[in-house]
Amino acid sequence: METFATASALRAWVDARRREGRRIGFVPTMGNLHAGHHSLLEVARRHADAIVASVFVNPTQFGPHEDFARYPRTPDADAAGLAQNGCDALFLPGVDELYPYGADRSVSVRVPELTGVLEGAIRPGHFDGVATVVAKLFNLVQPQVAVFGQKDYQQLLVIRRMVRDLGFPIDIVGAPIVRESNGLAMSSRNQYLDAGQRERAGAIHSTLQAMRARVLAGEAFAAIEADARAALERAGLVPDYVVIRDAADLGEPVAGSALVALAAARMGSTRLIDNVLLTP
Ligand code: PAJ
Repeated sequence: METFATASALRAWVDARRREGRRIGFVPTMGNLHAGHHSLLEVARRHADAIVASVFVNPTQFGPHEDFARYPRTPDADAAGLAQNGCDALFLPGVDELYPYGADRSVSVRVPELTGVLEGAIRPGHFDGVATVVAKLFNLVQPQVAVFGQKDYQQLLVIRRMVRDLGFPIDIVGAPIVRESNGLAMSSRNQYLDAGQRERAGAIHSTLQAMRARVLAGEAFAAIEADARAALERAGLVPDYVVIRDAADLGEPVAGSALVALAAARMGSTRLIDNVLLTP
């Protein structure tokens, strides 16, 4: 695996692979890689034959009081894991490479509608930062396909919307959520949890599964959501939301639309998100 710190060196490599007729697959990450990230590489390999991953802790998607400074940074272990897992090139840029005018003076990509609810309502500006950095990465890497985890369900919808609206010639592939044995969705933030918290946080997934069963059984959404909130609280979680939404646009569910149950909850000072599709 080759590692590149500059966009020009990466692009020379990408251009050479393209001249060989290879299809470029891209997996953007913020590093501190776990099995969830590695699963995205496997999915990428099914759709492409030259795989680029990026590791960049993007300052513009963190709020002023969020964990940007303490976000775990493990570039050496990440590079070793990616190389072992069949990644062909790693893009490891510094902030200046992605934000030549400074992160606070960057051109910004804003995706309306999808970004004012759920995560967007609780983390104002978060999805502007995500859309902006992903647009920059897409322009620098120029992949034919890019893979994103369904764990960040709203993010996946935001990226799809941006790609369609700005006309990026890139196929966006969603990859299934990888979980711990107790159902907790794998996340770099799980390491902030102690063993007991990690165990109790499994309630997020079991609660979402229970919601799914009751939705499929035809029960009323309001009662399902209220019971789910109580179940999270009993496990020691502080829910920000636990809701049933339209899977296409995260609006209030209307008859006949595909549905998703999404939850965000805090365990101590750690914020966790998860979701389950409710279609049979
Ligand atoms: P990060 O949180 O590092 O996640 C990188 C990718 O891994 C995302 O597509 C995310 O959905 C996926 N992922 C994380 N945990 C997963 C799990 N348990 N199962 C499956 N996929 C999982 O998401 C970001 O970084 C950033 O916002 C980024 C898109 C890189 C822009 O900065």
